[in-house]
Amino acid sequence: MESRSAALERAHEHAVTWLDSLDERPVPPAVDADEMVRRLGDLPDGPTPAAEVVDLLAEACEPGLVAIPSGRFFGMVIGGSLPAALGADWLTSAWDQNVGLRSLTPAGAAVEEVAGRWLLDLFGLPSGSAVGFVTGATMANFTCLAAARDTALRRAGYDVRAGLRGGPGVRVLVGPERHPSVDLPLRFLGLGDPIAVPADAAGRIRPEALAESLADVGGPAIVVLQAGNIHSGDFDPFADCVALAHERGAWVHVDGAFGLWAAVSPRWRERVRGLADADSWATDAHKTLNVPYDAGLAIVRDADALASSMAMHGDYLIQASGDPQERTPELSRRGRGFATWAALRSLGRSGVADLVERLASHARTLADGAREIPGCEVHNDVVFTQVCLSFGDDDRTRSVGEALLADGVTWMSGSRWHDRAIVRISVSNWSTTDDDVRRSLEALHRAAEAAG
Ligand SMILES: Cc1ncc(COP(=O)(O)O)c(C=O)c1O
Repeated sequence: MESRSAALERAHEHAVTWLDSLDERPVPPAVDADEMVRRLGDLPDGPTPAAEVVDLLAEACEPGLVAIPSGRFFGMVIGGSLPAALGADWLTSAWDQNVGLRSLTPAGAAVEEVAGRWLLDLFGLPSGSAVGFVTGATMANFTCLAAARDTALRRAGYDVRAGLRGGPGVRVLVGPERHPSVDLPLRFLGLGDPIAVPADAAGRIRPEALAESLADVGGPAIVVLQAGNIHSGDFDPFADCVALAHERGAWVHVDGAFGLWAAVSPRWRERVRGLADADSWATDAHKTLNVPYDAGLAIVRDADALASSMAMHGDYLIQASGDPQERTPELSRRGRGFATWAALRSLGRSGVADLVERLASHARTLADGAREIPGCEVHNDVVFTQVCLSFGDDDRTRSVGEALLADGVTWMSGSRWHDRAIVRISVSNWSTTDDDVRRSLEALHRAAEAAG
């Protein structure tokens, strides 16, 4: 077992060296993925000692790592890792629990039940809802929408087990700016392309347009709303939309990958009004809560509906009602709840709200600072953690984005929103400090100057 201890000690040392480097190292990688493939080499003929393999891996990967956990990474929507969550994640690998069955892994099952309860309480969602620990928000959308589809069919007198052919078509209504991770699960589920309902300038569905679309669609329907638009950061008008959808008998699902966390603070009370009346909610702990990856959360009000869509049965399985596998699309999987439990336990109720409020406050400071750069325009009302900037025409905006990446102090990603190029800022990392914000704004100034 000496080799195991040696491997873990080497991993600990490399991890600490990496985390200590984040404050000063450039955020972008030094080499691209093709170079990394070359560096990782060929399969050797014989074995290599474990500690040496850990060293080899750490040394080979170092130049291809992006400082995503640094406080100056504002790309996509990617959080870092809270120390307690990271420690718990290491233990999760060491414990190697297969969390599908309550009897097989009591600790893994219980931690998910407890963290699930805490999450429902924090979000203000119905206390009897089922919480499935899935890989990410895409699979959370899939899991919730599977329950939505099967319930919609059941209400129409049809069982999905008979196959979709011959059944009533289920139509799905979405906003035009929903995340693509809504469309993909709809394809997995055989539901096809959704119907886009017109929205306002912040990407929020217009309730009167939803009422018209619902009237046009016959048969079973699902309405997908959004908490946290990836460009504006804004929220669909839940109270009005949920009421309209429910009047029509439609299931309401909310994609709240990063934005559901607004519900933990009174600051967004008005924006999330009506959110808790939906039927299912997708989110994750790896973005806003800053848990390491593989921390999606599928929440469904009707626990039996979720179990009916997800539960597997096998004679060799020691099954019990309430097994974790009844809430996720997988049977075998890692103990995803440990790290989420640890993050929540370390922050406590007030700490979770402080974290989310701090992210949003950094976003506002970044927007205010960016406005002072000649030629820079902020395109959204910064209501949450997202900021969209342009610097004149599309070519110049793109040049600023490229100059920023070349500068290396911060990472903001390019996108297109409302038919124009933009530089997107997403504040998602617990470790971002006022100093990170100041350094990032200085880098943005330098990039704007370099772009001419
Ligand atoms: C609004 C929204 N929904 C869904 C997703 C997909 O999340 P994941 O990458 O965890 O699957 C994202 C990712 O950024 C998102 O922003």
